[in-house]
Amino acid sequence: MTEEYVLRCVLMLCCALLSANASNWLYLAKLSSVGSIRDEETCERLRGLIQRQVQICKRSVEVMDAVRRGAQLAIDECQFQFRNRRWNCSTLESMPVFGKVVTQGTREAAFVYAISAASVAFAVTRACSSGELEKCGCDHNVHGVSPEGFQWSGCSDNIAYGVAFSQSFVDVRERSKGQSSSRALMNLHNNEAGRKAILSHMRVECKCHGVSGSCEVKTCWKAMPPFRKVGNVIKEKFDGATEVEQRKMGTSKVLVPRNSQFKPHTDEDLVYLDPSPDFCEYDPRTPGMLGTVGRQCNRTSKAIDGCELMCCGRGFQTQEVEVVDRCSCKFHWCCYVKCKQCRKIVEIHTCR
Ligand SMILES: *[C@@H]1O[C@H](CO)[C@@H](O)[C@H](O)[C@H]1NC(C)=O
Ligand SMILES: *[C@@H]1O[C@H](CO)[C@@H](O)[C@H](O)[C@H]1NC(C)=O
Repeated sequence: MTEEYVLRCVLMLCCALLSANASNWLYLAKLSSVGSIRDEETCERLRGLIQRQVQICKRSVEVMDAVRRGAQLAIDECQFQFRNRRWNCSTLESMPVFGKVVTQGTREAAFVYAISAASVAFAVTRACSSGELEKCGCDHNVHGVSPEGFQWSGCSDNIAYGVAFSQSFVDVRERSKGQSSSRALMNLHNNEAGRKAILSHMRVECKCHGVSGSCEVKTCWKAMPPFRKVGNVIKEKFDGATEVEQRKMGTSKVLVPRNSQFKPHTDEDLVYLDPSPDFCEYDPRTPGMLGTVGRQCNRTSKAIDGCELMCCGRGFQTQEVEVVDRCSCKFHWCCYVKCKQCRKIVEIHTCR
């Protein structure tokens, strides 16, 4: 081994440690080669988990496929919510999945942590309700007749189990640091806010029983909102996120708004410590910082999806492309719909 080689290894190790970040478990979404997570040995081989998460994995192997589905759900929802923004939540095939973009304590990091904590709670709760787990099933604490006169029954979503699992699995890194650093406080707060986005939007779903659809007997159960709703809620919290700083309060540390004129954030709001970069240019030193060259933009919009803001003032190119659409659809008795194929030219604008 040459000295240069040793030096390079040391450097790589340092880089790996520095970029170690609390959302590395999201890498589970990329482990399609592992197959189903069935046994404790698989837990040892999962990249992206810290030691304590490996222990949780071993204790709760049956839940891990749900955790992995949660990771995928978080990434998909992030990409949907950010599809028209300069940073569009694109992932890398390496760790951390969002590159270095979420290693600062930015608003974007706040969103990623909140949506990830929510997605694990959501996916695990789903798995409980669907009966695929031995450790949990439907929530049977909700039973009897409600004040409104309907019968609680069916399968209420066991959100308490999902939330508790998310707290132990997703928050484990921050909790082990004794909540000392401001970044740990930020992550924990946003994780909790993400889970609240489910908890505060639980709904009651009902089904009617009776002769030919009459509603003589109504049975109801508690259900989680669709995950798209959870994503919308957290995106709204992203738009109104509060910039905070750490303050000492007695023996503990808390996060307070940097601008004391602002009203304090609630448990459901997102908080961040660092201003975001502008995300305009590709930066080879910051993996995941792709810039906006080549991104599609909207020529008439004045918002962030508009060409002016999206292209950071560099201007845009316009292309005409032909799209094929269904049109002049006619309903035929009974029962099908027949359409023509229409070709039309649309303009597509992309950033220079
Ligand atoms: C995000 O934007 C990049 C270009 O900056 C593009 O290559 C990529 O396909 C986009 N990803 C998503 C998920 O839209
Ligand atoms: C572009 O932006 C305008 C104004 O916000 C909006 O009405 C229109 O639907 C957008 N077009 C597309 C293709 O998104």
